[in-house]
Amino acid sequence: MVKKAIIPAAGLGTRFLPATKAQPKEMLPIIDTPVIQLVVQEAIDSGIDDILIISGKGKRAIEDHFDRNYELEARLNDKQDESMLNEIRRISDMANIHFIRQKELNGLGDAIYYAKQHVGNEPFAILLGDTCIDSVIPVTQQLIDIYEQHRQSVIGVEKVPIEKVSRYGIIDGTKIDERIYKVNNLIEKPSIKESPSDLAIASRYILTPSIFKVLEKTPKGKNNEIQLTDALKLLLEKEDIYSYHYEGKRYDIGNKFEYIKTIIEYGLKREEFKDELVKYLKDITKEI
Ligand code: UTP
Repeated sequence: MVKKAIIPAAGLGTRFLPATKAQPKEMLPIIDTPVIQLVVQEAIDSGIDDILIISGKGKRAIEDHFDRNYELEARLNDKQDESMLNEIRRISDMANIHFIRQKELNGLGDAIYYAKQHVGNEPFAILLGDTCIDSVIPVTQQLIDIYEQHRQSVIGVEKVPIEKVSRYGIIDGTKIDERIYKVNNLIEKPSIKESPSDLAIASRYILTPSIFKVLEKTPKGKNNEIQLTDALKLLLEKEDIYSYHYEGKRYDIGNKFEYIKTIIEYGLKREEFKDELVKYLKDITKEI
């Protein structure tokens, strides 16, 4: 059973400056909901009840968001805004959420290592805190289902256009079932020519606790940081790893243009905005 999730959210968010100078990119709103709240919701909807958020300098707003705010609750109570009051209370009761601070930004692999004690000897999920996924079945649940079949680490992957492989960690895998691959190798940011596939590592993982031993020995790699992909390569020498081409659409809001697209698409999904937004988009594109 996978009962714990780690949400790394300590990064500097340099691709989104200046917005991220004093606020966490994980708190950027998808209209009215911070992206990390959608990520926490995905974990809960996947049956996870214990969440560890890897926090760091300048990330206090994340802790405040998941804490009670009595003054705000009293004000909403006076205004008799019951539905928002319930929503504000629901957010602080969402799950058992813990925080730990990554003291130096030494990369995603290092961030995950901070979860060692909290996780103990169980498999656990990783959900990147700046990426939400729209899907019918929560993606973490999809990966847990594959984990239950194979009892080995499972990496969530998506298909990317071949001209974009050099932006991702790419899986070299053997297809063993519909959407399931047994991983032979992982290659970080390959050129189109050397890329073994178009399957990119895409922000969600279920890992066995063996990853912590491996992380202890993983040297600093690209950007002088401990890369999770490098650790997974070492894990592959000890254990089988599977990857699953999950069903869902990923929105990585750490990138400015992706963020613009995310707001528009989530706006179109909301009944109260849909018609007006469609009309607005048609009108302004005519003007261009
Ligand atoms: P990214 O590489 O997208 O985050 O990591 P970043 O380093 O903040 O981004 P840029 O390139 O400077 O814009 C994906 C997730 O992992 C977390 C980030 O907060 C993000 O949610 N992360 C990354 C950590 O928790 N610690 C790190 O050392 C690096």
